[in-house]
Amino acid sequence: MSATLRFDNIGKVFPGVRALDGVSFDVNAGEVHGLMGENGAGKSTLLKILGGEYQPDSGRVLIDGNEVHFASAAASIGAGIAVIHQELQYVPDLTVSENLLLGALPNRLGWVDKRAAKAHVRERLAAMGVDLDPNAKLRKLSIAQRQMVEICKALLRNARVIALDEPTSSLSHRETEVLFKLVRDLKADKRALIYISHRMDEIYELCDACTIFRDGRKIASHLSLADVPRETLVQEMVGREISDIYNYRARPLGDVRFSVKNVQGDALSAPVSFEVKRGEIVGFFGLVGAGRSELMHLVYGADKKKDGALWLDGKEIKVRSTGEAIRHGIVLCPEDRKEEGIVAMATVAENINISCRRHYLRGGLFLDRKKEAQTAERFIQLLKIKTPSRKQRIRFLSGGNQQKAILSRWLAEPDLKVVILDEPTRGIDVGAKHEIYNVIYQLAERGCAIVMISSELPEVLGVSDRIVVMRQGRIAGELAREKASEQSVLSLALPQAETVAQAA
Ligand SMILES: Nc1ncnc2c1ncn2[C@@H]1O[C@H](COP(=O)(O)OP(=O)(O)OP(=O)(O)O)[C@@H](O)[C@H]1O
Ligand SMILES: [Mg+2]
Repeated sequence: MSATLRFDNIGKVFPGVRALDGVSFDVNAGEVHGLMGENGAGKSTLLKILGGEYQPDSGRVLIDGNEVHFASAAASIGAGIAVIHQELQYVPDLTVSENLLLGALPNRLGWVDKRAAKAHVRERLAAMGVDLDPNAKLRKLSIAQRQMVEICKALLRNARVIALDEPTSSLSHRETEVLFKLVRDLKADKRALIYISHRMDEIYELCDACTIFRDGRKIASHLSLADVPRETLVQEMVGREISDIYNYRARPLGDVRFSVKNVQGDALSAPVSFEVKRGEIVGFFGLVGAGRSELMHLVYGADKKKDGALWLDGKEIKVRSTGEAIRHGIVLCPEDRKEEGIVAMATVAENINISCRRHYLRGGLFLDRKKEAQTAERFIQLLKIKTPSRKQRIRFLSGGNQQKAILSRWLAEPDLKVVILDEPTRGIDVGAKHEIYNVIYQLAERGCAIVMISSELPEVLGVSDRIVVMRQGRIAGELAREKASEQSVLSLALPQAETVAQAA
């Protein structure tokens, strides 16, 4: 019997990059097939070929043993394939239901009756366990919610082959659970699924089989993951052994460098205070929506504080705007680096240098191209940013490599005193995570005060000297590294029975 989906010897070359090189594997009905590999390994490119966005240079795609050619995205959709891409495409001014019906239902069912269509959407969303208002405009939704819309769209089409490219990278815990249930239902319904993720836990939890890519080549396919240890997958992905990806380095801590006193704002339910010493890495953990990013936006001057004071090196400072924060040597690398950070048409080097450029101005006027080139080259090497050159336009880089370039922009700032990193390793592969932690340790060793927001508990535990836990807009408690465990941190982060009872 032929496989539902077969990739046979697929090759794809971009100028300066061989993105895929002779890739073959099968995905069967009723199977969730994981796809893993470093940033830039070629995963998204393969899904773009499946989705009809790119044409392969060589090789064949077969569905049920028959060769198919997708000249366009529409052709792929027409063949019963749904690809949910890493970079979402959506129309911001349409509502959820308009988006869901776009290109799918109205044509097939010939709907003109908007109300009936809306009712149908509401019903289907409820059946899928997705809590979304069909009338909400897409621009008003969080990235996570937009992602859910995209996923629901694929499901409404009843596709036979469904491929998801890092679907959980911006989903909350609850949304991830909803998604996992959807995936399991689809599997039980004998669809063939491809699932790309950098999160090892998810791969083991969800996938039956797994294929590993490195530099555009297939390294291995595991038809059953049951007996494959994590170390094997890591080794196959990065081509070397990484015994401890956190590689924590203890360091002496200095005086209090940065203190936040009684900061208040709309998203906080109580005044918040915390301190960070010279050389200290403080991890901020909490469930999505606990108020961590909101707190840091207030601290950084991106949002208006209602009250509160900031102290840097023993002196009170005023931070009324992000510009003021940066002048004091305080930077925040935002969570949503794509939306807040990227200049798509600019080169990798320009994207890295945007923030520190003013330090390099010669006589306040002329750009110091040489210095900028050096900085760009340094970070391309340091974080192993996969690009044919620093002059490549950043939009041609893989998702994770764009993330690394934007992260570099903040780390390249000279004279950093306080560095706030919001989910610094989201979408980044294990090998590069390792490099990013090293950069964080180096900054701390130079005396920076570091705040790291992360929703990945092992990362918070692995990297932080101290952990502050937020819950429902306030600080729920803090734990020294030695006292912190998954359990102790989670018990602070989860809503307490009494608070729930009070709210009810
Ligand atoms: N349109 C394009 N033009 C030029 N190069 C491209 C283009 N699309 C992808 N590439 C390159 O092809 C390689 C593979 O990229 P791809 O997006 O498939 O990686 P990936 O495995 O999905 O990585 P990530 O985990 O970061 O998402 C990368 O080196 C990337 O820079
Ligand atoms: Mg990708």
